[in-house]
Formats: sequence, C-alpha cells, structure tokens
Amino acid sequence: MLDNIPSIKELNFVGRESELEKVKEELANHDMVIICGTLGIGKTSLAEKYAYDLKEKGQWVRWIEAESTKIVDEYAQWAKDLEFGTGGKTIEEVRDSIYRYLCGQRELVYLILNNVDSCLGPPVQYPHYYNR
Ligand SMILES: Nc1ncnc2c1ncn2[C@@H]1O[C@H](COP(=O)(O)OP(=O)(O)O)[C@@H](O)[C@H]1O
Ligand SMILES: [Mg+2]
Repeated sequence: MLDNIPSIKELNFVGRESELEKVKEELANHDMVIICGTLGIGKTSLAEKYAYDLKEKGQWVRWIEAESTKIVDEYAQWAKDLEFGTGGKTIEEVRDSIYRYLCGQRELVYLILNNVDSCLGPPVQYPHYYNR
C-alpha cells in the first residue's frame, strides 16, 4: 500500500484557494514545498485539503506525522503496509528501503511530513535525496 489517505473524509475546510494554487504551482516546478508559519495558522489543514484533492484525482499520497515521537512508528507502519520486513533494521534503513522502492516505481507518491520542523532525530531525510 503506497498511501494512507482514506478516500472519503469530511473536511471542515474553507477558503485558502490562493494558497492551494500556490502549492500546486510550486510542486509543478519543485520536488518539495515547505509550508511554514505560526502555530494554528492552518498549515496542517492546508496540507490535508491538498492531500484529499490529490487523492480525488487518483494520486497516491502518504501522510507521515513527523514529530520525533511518531516518525519511527510511521515509517514502520509504512514498511508493514508494503509488506517489507523490518526485523533487525534501524529506522533509517527501513526508511531508505521504502524510498528506494518508491524511486523504482512508476507511480508518483506525494509524501507529506507533518510537523517535520519538530523532528530532532535522524529519521528525517527527504526522498529526493535518493533520486539524484
Ligand atoms: N481553511 C480552514 N478552514 C477551516 N478551518 C481551518 C482552516 N485552517 C485551519 N482551520 C482550523 O484551525 C485550527 C488550526 O489549524 P491547523 O491546520 O491545525 O494549524 P497549524 O497546523 O498551522 O498549527 C484547526 O482546528 C483547523 O481545523
Ligand atoms: Mg499543524
């Protein structure tokens, strides 16, 4: 399973059309977009809305809660969904095996790392690193 966005979910999302368009524009020209701003400004909601819009268009989207306390379990779960063995592997090895697998796939997977700024540990590595 490449993604983890349910196909139907009620969102109480309103507005932000220009921000959604901006993310789309940036992604047309770059591999990565960073949404930053003060707590509560609507970053997660914007990403969530974008994710559901992509999903509606038939794209693959994987949402990862990237706080230090969660990211390890998030990658482990993704590996499990892909039926990859994780026994004896560090989380970095698990992550790398997922990213390498993705780089070899024809499908594009949109990866959303929520709260990545608060992740202090080594698990964060941006996937385009593997595409060089
Ligand atoms: N476009 C929006 N429409 C409706 N509610 C929103 C919107 N953006 C944010 N909210 C609400 O505001 C609160 C904070 O948004 P959130 O996305 O969690 O902010 P951040 O991730 O920047 O801390 C949440 O309760 C969220 O549901
Ligand atoms: Mg948030």
